[in-house]
Amino acid sequence: MSSNASQAGLLSGADPPRHVAIIMDGNGRWAKKRLLNRVKGHEKGAETVRTIVRAAGELGIKVLTLYAFSTENWQRPAGEIKALMALLKKFLIKEEPDLLKNNIRLGTIGQLARLPDDARATIEQVKTTTAKNDGLLLNLALSYGGRTEIVEMVQAIAAKTAAGALTPEHIDEKTVTDHLYTSGLPDPDLMIRTSGEMRISNFLLWQLAYSELYITPTLWPDFTSEEFIGIIREYQQRERRFGKVDPA
Ligand code: FPP
Repeated sequence: MSSNASQAGLLSGADPPRHVAIIMDGNGRWAKKRLLNRVKGHEKGAETVRTIVRAAGELGIKVLTLYAFSTENWQRPAGEIKALMALLKKFLIKEEPDLLKNNIRLGTIGQLARLPDDARATIEQVKTTTAKNDGLLLNLALSYGGRTEIVEMVQAIAAKTAAGALTPEHIDEKTVTDHLYTSGLPDPDLMIRTSGEMRISNFLLWQLAYSELYITPTLWPDFTSEEFIGIIREYQQRERRFGKVDPA
């Protein structure tokens, strides 16, 4: 474990999670409670993103996947979608120097082609400038849906099979894993959802098979690095058996 991680209050002797995935929920309710427009909730939520990205880097987490925009979110009012896309672009432009300074690489999963051109161009640019960083991977799920990801995986495998590059009997779990958006990444060790909803909402359907889950009632804009560290400590005390029995 890095000295930063122990300084931050993680337990020594237990590994921190390599990959943490978060469903950042509750921006709308945070705004509503304050009689504000929903977009104000997303703006405050973007500040939380900044805090948690920094904390994850300091804790030595290797991958942080954030559910920033789902395939279902395209059904929200046009004004809210426009504001979210503008916020994403503004966030990346503002954070780029810190990502570089803190050795953080930007990645994405999802149907990036559906994003507006300007947001996509900013994403591609920040991906390029941070490509050589080997600290935390900030992996944004954008226009992401777990079922769509599975459909695209099946299409890719079917195309290779039809072309004779794969035979059905050689298709195994690794073949599937290698054709998902997350190819090359470890599965999430821990999935956190804010705002208390007990659902996974089409997020990483294959990859969450053995992840530890943590649901907090805190709304995403109120989520702090202290609560994040507390959840990671709780994770460090869990026993992961992956369907097997305790060896002791
Ligand atoms: C869920 O809250 C949140 C979203 C759909 C968007 C998440 C976006 C951000 C955290 C800010 C921008 C992101 C980045 C990466 C800069 P909700 O609107 O569903 O809340 P509700 O369930 O209370 O209505």
